[in-house]
Parts: sequence; structure tokens; C-alpha cells
Amino acid sequence: MQRTLILLKPDGVQRRLVGTIIERLERKGLRLAGLKMVQATPELAARHYAVHQGKPFYDSLLQFLTSGPTVAMVWEGREAVAVARALMGPTDGTKAPPGTIRGDFALSVQNNLIHGSDSPETAAAEIALWFRPDELVEYQPVDAGWIG
Ligand code: RTP
Ligand code: MG
Repeated sequence: MQRTLILLKPDGVQRRLVGTIIERLERKGLRLAGLKMVQATPELAARHYAVHQGKPFYDSLLQFLTSGPTVAMVWEGREAVAVARALMGPTDGTKAPPGTIRGDFALSVQNNLIHGSDSPETAAAEIALWFRPDELVEYQPVDAGWIG
């Protein structure tokens, strides 16, 4: 079973879209393995977006991610990484199609509400960055036979 790290970035929290976005992930059949609210430090934000260091938008991105609380979550399910990315839509809200989270709720490139890991390997590293092992909960989903 695959896991992915999902962040509801500070714009999602400030715009009171936490419940709306969680509902979309739940309805798809992904299930929660961990959830917490975090005020990201500059160090955590820099480690999370280290791959973008040196890019023109990097400083602004770090300022954004540390500008308010983030809801950090681990979701799991079949192909959870790709499924979550598909639900999110492309980075730029103006190009994200309707029906996706960014397509329905974002207009900005930077303030695009949600982060999702882009590969299973990235997911493992990002989950370890945001969560301690004892913050993730293993449980038997009662509807697994129906959802797969
Ligand atoms: P994420 O990592 O947050 O899931 O987003 P992503 O894969 O769709 O996009 P990525 O290229 O990894 O960029 C990370 C985040 O940086 C901000 N960004 N700003 N101003 C810009 O040109 C620009 N490009 C990217 C966005 O917040 C994007 O989600
Ligand atoms: Mg990315």
C-alpha cells in the first residue's frame, strides 16, 4: 500500500478549505494515516523544498510556507502518490482543469493550496521529514474489500 505526504498550505488553512480538500481525498478512497497542524519553521520549509533552492521563486515560496499554519497529512491507498497528484491538478491554478482541487479553488501559481509528494521515494523522505513514526497510525480499514 502506497503512502504520500499531503500538505494543506497556509492559504488553504486561511481560506477555510481544509474540510473541503480532505473530503475530496476521502471520497476518492484514500485513507488517512496521520494528520497534524504545524507552524513550519524556515528550516523545515527549506528542507521540504530543497529541490527548488536557487530558483527565482524559492525565497517567496519559503516565506509563503512559513506565513501561517500548515495541515500536514499522510494518506495511503493504491497508487496514492499519483492519485493525489491527479486530484490536486497542475501547479498553476489558472491551468489546472475544473474538477481538480487547484482547478476549482486556486488562481495563483504559488498559492495553490496543496502539496503532494511527486514519487514514492520522495514521499518516504517527506513523510520522515514531517512526521515521527509514532504519529502514523496503522489500522485495518473496514471497507478495504469494497475500495481496493
Ligand atoms: P508541490 O511540490 O507543492 O506539490 O507543487 P508542484 O509539485 O505542483 O510544483 P513544484 O514545481 O514542485 O513547485 C513547488 C511549489 O512552488 C510554488 N511555485 N511557485 N512562482 C512560480 O513560478 C512557482 N512555481 C512553483 C508553488 O507553490 C508550487 O506548488
Ligand atoms: Mg513538487
